[in-house]
This record gives sequence, structure tokens and C-alpha cells, in this order.
Amino acid sequence: MKVAVIGTGYVGTTTSIAFASQGYKVIGIDNDEEKIKRLNQSKLPFYEEGLDGILQKYILDGTLSFTSNLEESMEQCDILFVTVGTPASQDGSADLSSVIEVARQIGSVMKDYKVIVIKSTVPIGTGAKLKNIIQSELKKRQLDISFDLVSNPEFLRQGKALHDAVYPERIVIGCETDKAREIMEEFYKNVKSKLLFTTVRDAEMIKYASNAFLATKISFINELARICEKTETNIVQVAKGMGMDSRINPQFLQAGLGFGGSCFPKDTKALLALASEKETPMNILKAVLHVNQTQTDWFMEKVKKTLNSLSGKRIAILGLTFKPQTDDIREAPSLKIINYLIKHKAHMAAYDPQGTENVKKIYPDIRYATTPLEAMAGADAVLIVTEWKEIIDIDWKNAKRVLSQPIVFDGRNALDSAIMSKLGYYYMGVGILKS
Ligand code: UDX
Repeated sequence: MKVAVIGTGYVGTTTSIAFASQGYKVIGIDNDEEKIKRLNQSKLPFYEEGLDGILQKYILDGTLSFTSNLEESMEQCDILFVTVGTPASQDGSADLSSVIEVARQIGSVMKDYKVIVIKSTVPIGTGAKLKNIIQSELKKRQLDISFDLVSNPEFLRQGKALHDAVYPERIVIGCETDKAREIMEEFYKNVKSKLLFTTVRDAEMIKYASNAFLATKISFINELARICEKTETNIVQVAKGMGMDSRINPQFLQAGLGFGGSCFPKDTKALLALASEKETPMNILKAVLHVNQTQTDWFMEKVKKTLNSLSGKRIAILGLTFKPQTDDIREAPSLKIINYLIKHKAHMAAYDPQGTENVKKIYPDIRYATTPLEAMAGADAVLIVTEWKEIIDIDWKNAKRVLSQPIVFDGRNALDSAIMSKLGYYYMGVGILKS
């Protein structure tokens, strides 16, 4: 089986590499010719640890190639995966213009039976809509070609994307015919994961529901963290105790600065928009977003209160990306924090191992450091915003000397409060009493 993957963004490129590693010959397609040129030179358009070396291997041995020519690629492949973006529109609903355009292009060049697999996150009913678009393009060409449209949502986590693509915990396949089911079963036969076959609509809903549910866990624990501070209880211990119940499980119960990234905020908003369109409002999701939107302000109010005022204070920001192991700053809490500090006239120096260049484009005028210690030099307070290992592993005993005041606000509960206190820090996490 030969495979084409349309859209060489984060999901498309990682998925292409994962399929190549499973022995498939893969063609990645994108209309951005500059991007295609760079990918064929093994240059990734984003940072993901370990991925560039593997990309190079498959480019060199011919397993994986990239092109802008959809028509030619379609002639060579049996299955087409669609991985183009579905960003949030102004009203929070998913912008489907890219997937619609891809469906139109597929219909305008398709010559024989294909399985078209939608991996992009799309609202319920989009599969059927795309099927109609392809059919009407074929009709324009007076062709009667059969095809199957399948929904196979991705559940990749940034920073662990290759692992998730090669060893997925589950594979959800929404399809409507036995033929498509057999082809998809055959395609995934070497992947040792649970396969769930559903309708296309159910598969579309599973993706939104999964992300919205994980986002709900995070907002629940973040709101609980606020109460923990008021009740002299420790959210880390509380989450640990809760997570020991296998019905709850410990994952996605880490209190912090809220969820960011390209998926949770977008998908939660899209499900909310869909619910309201169907006149069945999801009040839980409204609350989830509200907690998330206010979490950084809640945290920064504590910083301001502790320092009396932020005006003229020197603040070290450690971590800018929405989570470690990525250079992605989309919806990152750091952006809201920088904005807050600017508004309150603080001076700041920021450090991140990967995200600096991206933040610089938005905030060119703040100071960026090339090491954590450089950012901390002379600081009145340190804010841990992303839990990079390099930041956790700072020699905190010696780092105290470069600070103006030994005050650390840990937005990720990444450090041990007892150790920090022993080292002489005024240490404050999220949902744990200061030590
Ligand atoms: C997520 C989903 O996990 C993945 O299945 C989906 O395909 C895409 O969206 P990703 O955005 O890469 O993946 O990041 P993830 O590791 O899930 O974290 C999302 C956000 O939640 C981050 O900002 C992270 O800091 C935050 N988070 C996560 C918490 O605040 N607490 C937690 O306990 C877990």
C-alpha cells in the first residue's frame, strides 16, 4: 500500500514519518513549495526532538518524499490522509476552508477508487460534507468513481508525537463500508493498538470529546488549587490521592498555569460553538474555558501582592513554550504573563531553550537571555512558566546568589517546596502554601 499525506504541518509530517517507519512508501503533499523544498532537504518546519534524524533517514532511502503535485501523487497511492489545519475562526468554530479546498482538489483529479482518511480535527458532520464536495467535483467531470471517506482522528502530543504515532494507545476509525474497514484494518495490521470502528460522525465526536475532557480535568484541578490555597491544603497531595483511584487516574491532574497549545483551547472552543449551534449549551465547557482564561491572572495577582507592586521590579521568566519539548508558543501562558508584566510596568528577562525566537516576534522589546542564570541576574522574583528539565535542574543553591531577592513563583509545581524552603527561598507554587 502506498500512502499520501496531504498537509505537511506538525501532524502531517509526524504522521508521514511514522507511516514510513512502518514500512509504507509515503508521499507528503503541500501547496507551500518552499516548505516542500526544505522537507526534501530533511529540514523540519518545527522543533520535535529526534525527528529530524529520522526524517533524513527516510528521505535518503526513498521511503518518504514530499511534493506539491497532488494529481501525480494520487495516481501512485491507495490511501490519502488529510492532515491540513482547522484553526479557530473568530467565533470559536473550526475554520474548514483548508479541508474543503483539499476535498475539492481531490475530486478534481481523482481517477480511480481511493480511501480518503480525514485526520484533521473537524466538527461532527464534516466527513459527510467533504464526501459531497468530492462527489460533486466528480460529477462535474462526468465520472462515476467510487471512494470511501474515513475519519481517523490523531491523538498526538507534541514532544511525544513520534512515540504516539508509532505506538498509539488507541486507533479510532470511523467508516461506513466493509471495504474501507478491511483496507484500514490491513493498513494498521502491524500497529499493536486497540482499534475501535465507529461511524464517521462518532469518530469526529470522539476527538473533540477526548480533548475537551482532558481540558476539563486540568481546569478542575486548577480551580481546586485556588481553594487549596484558601483551605491550607496541598493540591499536589490532593491530586496524588485522587489519582490513586483508577477511575480518576493521575494523568492531567497537575495544577499549573492552564492549558495552552494548538489543540485544547481550539477544540474546546469548537465543541462549545457546535453545542451552541445545536442549541444544547455545554455549561461545563464554558466554565473550563473561563478557569483557563483566568488562571494566569490569578497567579500573577499573587506575584503582585507578594512584591507589593510590580512597577520597576525585575522579573525573570523561565520558560516560554506552552509545554516542554516543543518550540510552540501558541496559547502559551507565558504570553499572558508577559502582557500582565508589561501592563504593570515590570522589567523582565525571559529564557526558554526553544521558544525564544517565536516569542520575540510578538514581544520584540523585552529582554531575552541565553541561559536561565542570565535571566535571573538581579531579579526580584523568578517565575517558572514552563517545566523544562533544564529549568528544574538549575543549581538552585548557587542560583540564589545572582538574585536580588530569593523569591520563586513556580507556575508548574515543578520544584520541591520543602527543598526550596530549606535552601532559603520564599517559594510559592500553585495550590500549595508558601514555604
Ligand atoms: C493534546 C492532546 O494530549 C493530544 O492527544 C491531542 O492530539 C492534541 O492536544 P498537546 O497539545 O501536545 O496534546 O499537549 P498535552 O501534553 O496534552 O498538554 C496540553 C496542555 O495542558 C499543556 O499546556 C500542558 O501544560 C497542560 N497540562 C497538561 C496541564 O496543565 N496539566 C496537566 O496535568 C497536563
